Amino acid sequence: MSGSSPVDAVGVVGAGVIGSSVAHAVARSGIPVVLHDISADALTRARRAIEDGERLARLRRGPADSAPVRFTEEPTDLKDCGLVVENVTEDIALKEAVHRSLDEVLAPDCVVAVNTSAVPITRLALVTNHPARLVGAHFMNPVALIDTVEVVRTDIVDQRALDQLEAVLRHMGKRSVVVRDEAGFVINRCLMMFVNEAAALSAAGVAGPAEVDRLFSGCLGHRSGPLRTADLIGVDTIVRTLDVLAEHHGPERFTPAPVLRQMLDAGHLGRKSGRGFYTYSVEGEQ
Ligand SMILES: NC(=O)c1ccc[n+]([C@@H]2O[C@H](COP(=O)([O-])OP(=O)(O)OC[C@H]3O[C@@H](n4cnc5c(N)ncnc54)[C@H](O)[C@@H]3O)[C@@H](O)[C@H]2O)c1
Repeated sequence: MSGSSPVDAVGVVGAGVIGSSVAHAVARSGIPVVLHDISADALTRARRAIEDGERLARLRRGPADSAPVRFTEEPTDLKDCGLVVENVTEDIALKEAVHRSLDEVLAPDCVVAVNTSAVPITRLALVTNHPARLVGAHFMNPVALIDTVEVVRTDIVDQRALDQLEAVLRHMGKRSVVVRDEAGFVINRCLMMFVNEAAALSAAGVAGPAEVDRLFSGCLGHRSGPLRTADLIGVDTIVRTLDVLAEHHGPERFTPAPVLRQMLDAGHLGRKSGRGFYTYSVEGEQ
């Protein structure tokens, strides 16, 4: 944490894989968090994920003077937040509905950051009554350990919204790289092609998942190969992201490989379900 907090509290909407990780990282920087999800089970899982994330963060980064996280199923609890980060399921219609309903509960000067893998921020901004306050904040998991955030600037955003987000990111010790709004931004337009091709290659038996990933880490210096990354993100989120990219950039490059849909149907979602390209025990990968 650096200096006094730029906002009294940060709201986090959606307590899944990345929402719980965002909540943890914000709280770790000393800013109180209101974590909202419509699912009580998701909130219970998020509490556990935050405890696990904190154990890892302590090992890697040392102890922190964390602020509290309030877990709530009630959206009106977000009303006093100066910044809200939306992280609900990667589904455009759902995200549109959530942003419309956030209009009803947030203060008019609250800034709304959208954490999405591929949905254009402008598309969501235009369904709200305050389109200039939406900005993209594409966080990477685990948020407490990854120091850079892809920030997405629409053509209609208010500079104040960008400044407010930037102030919170700086407080969290993050750097940002600002890009223009375009489905998938920079990271996922590239990463999802790697994941899709790597999944197809391993399904075709050209190389197993471990071999694919070892080539990316050993030859290209990537910290994690595309299939281990896919397991961390969640195969469900990967398929939804590819669907959004296919809708905006055409099906040739982004139609999900059949194996990804088969894994989705089988419930092999990666770390979150215990099995994806790899298998996981409670303690981690086997
Ligand atoms: N998984 C990642 O590593 C990652 C990284 C960056 C961005 N994202 C993006 O973040 C978003 C969330 O991804 P995830 O992997 O955490 O998904 P997830 O499926 O793990 O979690 C989504 C959560 O949203 C909740 N939700 C659904 N409808 C809601 C509503 N109306 N109000 C409040 N909560 C609601 C669900 O209950 C669930 O807990 C997606 O847009 C995804 O593309 C994911």
